[in-house]
Amino acid sequence: MQSNEERLKSILKDHQTLTVVGGNWGDEGKGKVIDLIMENFEIVVRFSGGANAGHTVYTPAGKKLVSHLIPCGLAQNKTCVLSRGEFFNLELFLKELEESKKILGGKLADIHIDHQAPLWTPYHRYFEHYIESMRGETKIGTTSKGIGPLEGLYKLRLAPLVGFLFEPELLKSSLDSLYKVLSPSFEYLKSQNLLDEAIPSPEEVSKQLLASAPLIKEFVSDTGYFLDQALHDGKRILFEGAQATGLDAWWGTYPYVSSGNSTAAGAALGTGLPVSSFGSPLLVVKTLPTRVGFGPFPSEMWDRQLAMDFAKEHTELFTDKTAAAPFLAEKLRKINSGEAAPSEMSQYFQVLGDERGATTGRGRSIGFLDIPWLLYAIRVNGPKYIALTRFDMLSGIKSMSVVVAYKYDGKVLPKGQLPASWELKDVETVTEDWPCFAEDIGDIDDESRLPRSAQEFLARLQKHLGVPILLVGTGPGREAMVVRN
Ligand code: IMP
Repeated sequence: MQSNEERLKSILKDHQTLTVVGGNWGDEGKGKVIDLIMENFEIVVRFSGGANAGHTVYTPAGKKLVSHLIPCGLAQNKTCVLSRGEFFNLELFLKELEESKKILGGKLADIHIDHQAPLWTPYHRYFEHYIESMRGETKIGTTSKGIGPLEGLYKLRLAPLVGFLFEPELLKSSLDSLYKVLSPSFEYLKSQNLLDEAIPSPEEVSKQLLASAPLIKEFVSDTGYFLDQALHDGKRILFEGAQATGLDAWWGTYPYVSSGNSTAAGAALGTGLPVSSFGSPLLVVKTLPTRVGFGPFPSEMWDRQLAMDFAKEHTELFTDKTAAAPFLAEKLRKINSGEAAPSEMSQYFQVLGDERGATTGRGRSIGFLDIPWLLYAIRVNGPKYIALTRFDMLSGIKSMSVVVAYKYDGKVLPKGQLPASWELKDVETVTEDWPCFAEDIGDIDDESRLPRSAQEFLARLQKHLGVPILLVGTGPGREAMVVRN
């Protein structure tokens, strides 16, 4: 019988490139999927987002590595590319590099950073703080990594670029312009006591950046050209998505989105490779989707803020398995007897899945499996395969509500169609109860060992989605994944 690795190898052998993207609102477990498949590729590329992402992978020695900026390929000594579409934060990059060196025992992969990627400065952080403060009720709930200001100001032609780190005059003049344009917002922050640190002058920022610049000089190049050459040389490339379809600046739930191109199309935009270099992507979706920050989430179980507060106020349930065990047992009993309120159902899955952000530590709000949303994500990304993560969350559950359609204005919406993003909060969900499985499927890595009811669940879901579910996550460990036939 073929092992999972062998099966994946034969499935992926015809893919010179593969793009992995998220189908929900992030945190789908893209890192784990990439971890599993990257041995089939030589180069791993980030094409959008920045330090707002957080991917967890493991080294061959089994050590955990959480990467924010550097592609997950670092863990397996792959060539790693931070392309032009990824916002570059020098300070965080160096920190991540140091931490990774420790974990990897000093050995480091070949790293390439695009010379024309937008460069983060502390001004982006202050400006984000200003924007979020001014928005009040309509704030986005960002990760505070300056991503929105970086992308926005880049499009206003006000971004310092990575290559300016080696062109002091250009760096200084771009920092001057940025400072001048943003200084009224800094004055406001100061006048309202919204900032408890002094704002550095362009000279100070420039000095600090230039002092660290030599540490990355060897990595900086034209990554678009490098990747194009690599493709011509027959190298196999994996494009690592960050954030997700629902957070894409154009096709997500605007304005409650991140600022990058996080659908599959972003891989071409962010790398400069022609669209013909990319086949259909692998879409990673979560059995029970989650969302952090604000914005519409049609299948959400409970209230966003309350779910986030719950995680903050009950950290012991997330960190102490002994404290969590009776809590989970009681909630599961209530779920299966139909007594659980939506809040309790949400709390059960939040604790069970340790649903807290890898970058911000904020609690994630949980939703029911949402087929109409996934059909939209499929429409936008056109995936060849689906990876369904955290399927084991349904272990021991008798039956689960699954959203099978949206109704807007009393009418069922056709498959793949969503109302406008500002109307999404008003959709009604049409649900069905789907039998789940009494057995614990945790850590099963072979399809034939999945209980029949779990296989039926997958077959039913696949029929609705019309795309093969290739991978099924069955637990947090790296081996806990089924590769389906
Ligand atoms: P930003 O990306 O920091 O601008 O945040 C915009 C929205 O995207 C907020 O709701 C964030 O919580 C969300 N977001 C950004 N990156 C991630 C991620 O990697 N996982 C989940 N949510 C994210």
